[in-house]
Amino acid sequence: MSSSSTVFSVQRSGHARSAAERDQILSAPGFGTRFTDHMVAITWDRDHGWHDAQVRPYGPLSLDPAASVLHYGQEIFEGIKAYRHADGSIWTFRPQANGARLQRSAKRLALPELPVDLFVESLRQLISVDAHWVPSAPETSLYFRPFMIADEAFLGVRAAQKATYYVIASPAGPYFAKGVAPVSIWLSTDYARAGKGGTGAAKCGGNYAASLLPQTIAQSKGCSQVLFLDPVEGKYIEELGGMNVFLVYQDGTLVTPALSGSILEGITRSSILQLARDRGMTVQERKMSIDEWKQGVASGEIAEVFACGTAAVVTPIGELKGEGFAVGNPDAEAGQVTMALRKELTDIQYGRLPDPHGWLVRLDG
Ligand code: PLP
Ligand code: COI
Repeated sequence: MSSSSTVFSVQRSGHARSAAERDQILSAPGFGTRFTDHMVAITWDRDHGWHDAQVRPYGPLSLDPAASVLHYGQEIFEGIKAYRHADGSIWTFRPQANGARLQRSAKRLALPELPVDLFVESLRQLISVDAHWVPSAPETSLYFRPFMIADEAFLGVRAAQKATYYVIASPAGPYFAKGVAPVSIWLSTDYARAGKGGTGAAKCGGNYAASLLPQTIAQSKGCSQVLFLDPVEGKYIEELGGMNVFLVYQDGTLVTPALSGSILEGITRSSILQLARDRGMTVQERKMSIDEWKQGVASGEIAEVFACGTAAVVTPIGELKGEGFAVGNPDAEAGQVTMALRKELTDIQYGRLPDPHGWLVRLDG
């Protein structure tokens, strides 16, 4: 089944929120707490492949208690946004890259691969009924959460023979409560989010489950995200619980950890690398030790640090803390390079700048 052959059945919600209720939600969307009126579901089983594509009212799932996702964590997901442009049109950003990543995650988790064109079509289908939920205030968006679960009722441990792909959507403002102000992050040395040969490069729920205890510790230390080191030597920086990380050197060089097999290959990361190269910046994807970070910030050689991801966009990191140390300044101003890259990326996403790489895909009309 590919999108060209897929007919979605559409069942409109009888409980859709009124325009006034929706506008109230859109006026202060927060992140990830309110959802649109509809969702997408597409069923897969080994004998029939992908079938029964539906747009239906948003609502609880009915799952057999033996469904393998509940026991063995066979779940993968994506995060991608819809942006409203000044003329009212609705666009998304590099959806083929998210669709391809969902396929890579599916492969690693022994789930079925959804065709990329069907992934893109699923976003279009949701927008065809929930377009009014895409906010228009500056820097707001509609965050799609596509996900797939193994829902076969079977307690033996083996690859899924039944799965369902869903898309839900949630109006979004800034991921961090303070907006784009610099955040503090906590270095986890006791815990890793992923192991060698594990699922770190896949976007699967289990990686986030593994990050929650260290994330809770980070929060108890006044930090909003946790930084993980490589799981083999515990020496090289990898990424945050839900974002990639970049460092800007005084001489203008931009450095981000090379993909190691346990880092998620962020689409924001790859877009920033491209925009930086377009600007003629020196860009390095390489191993970077935590000592290089600490010493570079202390000496002033590293001028800026930032996190990036679909939810976080580009967020300055003011301070790195860990057991017995702190470097950086929690009250620092956001760095100039950080904010320039953030502006260029969001200007493209919101249609305020030309889109030289053809990253935008229209979802409405
Ligand atoms: N790393 C992790 C662990 C993430 O959860 C995310 C968010 O999706 C990212 C990196 C950034 O990926 P992307 O830019 O594709 O959203
Ligand atoms: C995203 O940015 O899409 C993520 O999945 C990260 C999470 C922190 C919300």
